[in-house]
Formats: sequence, structure tokens, C-alpha cells
Amino acid sequence: MVQVKVKIDNTKDFVRKDEIKLFKSEVELQRRKVYKKTGEGSDFLGWVDLPGNIPEDLIERIRKDAEQIRKKSQVAVVVGIGGSYLGARAIIDALSNNFYMMQHTKGENPLVVYAGQNIGEDYTAELLDFLDDKEYSVIVISKSGTTTEPAIAFRLLRKHLEEKYGKEEASQRIYAVTDASKGALKTLSDKMSYKTYVIPDDVGGRYSVLTPVGLLPIAVAGFDIGAFIKGAQTMQQYLAKEDDLFKNPAALYAVVRNILYRKGKTTEVMANYTPNMLFFTEWWKQLYGESEGKGQRGIFPAGVNFTTDLHSMGQYIQDGMRNLFETVVRVEQPEKSLEIPYDEDNLDGLNFLAGKRLSYVNKMAETGTMLAHVDGEVPNIEIVLPRINENVLGELVYFFEMACAISGYILEINPFDQPGVEAYKKNMFALLEKPGFEEETAQIRKRL
Ligand code: PA5
Repeated sequence: MVQVKVKIDNTKDFVRKDEIKLFKSEVELQRRKVYKKTGEGSDFLGWVDLPGNIPEDLIERIRKDAEQIRKKSQVAVVVGIGGSYLGARAIIDALSNNFYMMQHTKGENPLVVYAGQNIGEDYTAELLDFLDDKEYSVIVISKSGTTTEPAIAFRLLRKHLEEKYGKEEASQRIYAVTDASKGALKTLSDKMSYKTYVIPDDVGGRYSVLTPVGLLPIAVAGFDIGAFIKGAQTMQQYLAKEDDLFKNPAALYAVVRNILYRKGKTTEVMANYTPNMLFFTEWWKQLYGESEGKGQRGIFPAGVNFTTDLHSMGQYIQDGMRNLFETVVRVEQPEKSLEIPYDEDNLDGLNFLAGKRLSYVNKMAETGTMLAHVDGEVPNIEIVLPRINENVLGELVYFFEMACAISGYILEINPFDQPGVEAYKKNMFALLEKPGFEEETAQIRKRL
């Protein structure tokens, strides 16, 4: 059995059971395309069997290198963007103490920080300043090996490392995760003898968290990649053999969101009530946005963190344009326990909650919000996790990946390409006068 569940009780005013049943043969068809690799983008279906196919010696190597990085480094800098960044950050943040940034001085785990996910000058300059007096290593991740943002950050970090440690020691502190044979990062890694890991050709960036792209940073942060992989494997096996649409959570989620989309619910808002899951939402947004937003179609994925955002976005969700549905990631069990204390004066009037746990209050806020939003015509899908740990997150990641593939095929798009991402790059290179873009430079100047 799997631990991650999908509940659709709070969509029943909007989606009838018989409407879901009508998707039975459609889902069978789309699942067959995924498993038999006969659909569009089938060259990028390596993630389907990945959890059960990760070689033991690769896991061992990742663990050893992670240990080496952990011994040598107060800080590990993970350089990457999009699919080469969000998966690792989502899992590390979900599993970390909320204040681990402030606790790294205790020396238990290296602090993991990120670079190359933006071109912010202040961000990058401040990172280099921060690293001046820290022992650190760099994990640079780029499948193409040519993406501008991480390439710029890595150039700066390499210079900083080489000035700090000398060329040889700097090379010992750099780990590259990239293509097996092509790209500038691969060429540089060979030249400088960096330790390298390969991103399989048939796994696209946003589906790559179970490759070294995610596994190496997660292991460096001190988490159990074995349990993470095991969770994904459990979900993989379960989804592969469960043909009943109502018992297969990936198929059910894919179908319900597509029915809602066809009824005009064009924006899906992922809501969580657990601050550690903020970056999980960011990972999900990329997975669904980049997979489905094409051909003038696709559900727009948005994210909110509750109850925080009930005080900013709550008004819109309750009362604004009625093109929304919500997907609530519900965590049943927190890892810590904290009760609201009794107060003699009771000036804040909170004594009625004295002795109650914060998770109880949070849960009541969650239930109350869900009912209010349903009353406001915002259907709620619930994704229920018993707790947050490596195993459950492994299940969750694989569940969302499979649901995304099925959902994308139902939408009749290729969920594994991202042609739209090239448009901004072309304009940026033209504006930056990159050699080879002379024609585009001349054209774009006329528009300015
Ligand atoms: O999911 C994707 O394919 C993208 O988000 C890429 O991961 C992102 O653009 C980074 O590309 P690369 O890993 O080639 O540097």
C-alpha cells in the first residue's frame, strides 16, 4: 500500500462520479502510452522505471562523495536552475529544520545554498562574500551544460574557489552533474578532472530529482536517499499495477483536474499548511507548468502557503474570479509537539485553546478554509501525507510525475518538451549580442 492518498470529497459539487467513470478507457489508453513508451515525447520516459533501476553502486558512490563533501565543507553550493535545482531544494527544505540556516554553525550538516537559479548581481555578490571565510564545495548541475544562469554563477564560483584553494584543491571540491558526452560543462569537467555524474538522456530536467541531480545534494544535506528512492519505488510499483481509476491516485488526480479544467477551472492553486513545503510547491509548479502549458492550453499552476497567505490571497480565492480550484497538500502528523499555554490574565482571549496543540488549530484552520472555499465555488482536491519524511516524499514525487504524464496526455500535449522556454533565451542572446545571433540582434533593436 502507498501512504500518499488523494481525496476528492470536496470536489463532489463540481465533479460527478459518473463523469470520472467516463474517463476509464481514456486513462487506460494514456497509461498504456506512458508504460509502453508509445506517446509523444517517449524519448523522455526514463523516469517511469527509474526508482527501481537506480544501480546500487551509483547510490553508494553518491553516499561516499556526499560524505566527503560533508567532511570538508561548512557550506555546499548547489548551482543549477529549473529542473536542475528545484527538486533538490524542494526535498531538502521539506526535510530541514526551518531554522537550519542559522544552525549550520553547529557543524552537524553543511549548509546547502543555491546559485545560478537567478542572475541577481546582489544575490551572487553576497553569496561570494559569504563564502570568503567558509570551507565550501560546489555541486554544479546542468543537463545541457550550456544554460546561461548556472554557467555564469559557476564561472564566478570556480574563480573564487581557485583563488581560495588553488587550482588543484578547487578541482577536488567541484562535482559536476551533466550529460554523459556533450555540453560545455562536460568538456570543462574532463579538462579539469572534476568528479562527474551523468543525467540520463531519457530523463528531462523536471523529472530528474531521482537522478544524481537531486540525490547528491539531498545526501550532502544529510538525508536518507535510500528511503527517498524506496518511497518512489513503492509508488512506482503500486501505480503500475493499479488499474482501478478510483484506487490509482495518479490517474484519479489527473482525471479530476482535467474535468475541472474543462469546466472553466483553468488555475490550480496548490496550498500547504506546512511552511517546509514552500519549495515543494515550487517544484510542482515547474513540473506542471512546463509540462502542460503549451499549444495555448494548460492549467496554470499557482501556489499559496497557508495560513500565511490567507491574509493576503485568501480574499481572492474566496471571492475573486471563479476559475480556480485548489489542491491542498495535507500533512497529518507534525514531527514536533507544541501546546498553547494557559495564561492567567487571558487578555488575548486564547485560554479556550490552552492545552491544545498548534497542529490541532492548524487542522481546524485547514478544514474551515476548505469548506469556505468550496462554498465559494473553489473545489478542493486533497493530497494527504501521513507525515513528512524521505519515504513519503519519494512517494509524493513519483505520484506527481506520473499524474503529470497522464494529465498531459489527456490534454493532448507532449508533457516532456518545453519549446516555449527558448523564446526568452533567443531575445536575451540577441540583446547581449552573442556571436551567432547577429540577425536577431538587428531585428530586436528595431523594437526598442
Ligand atoms: O525541466 C527542464 O528541462 C528545465 O527546467 C531545465 O532543467 C532547466 O532549464 C535547466 O537546464 P539544464 O539542466 O540544461 O541547465
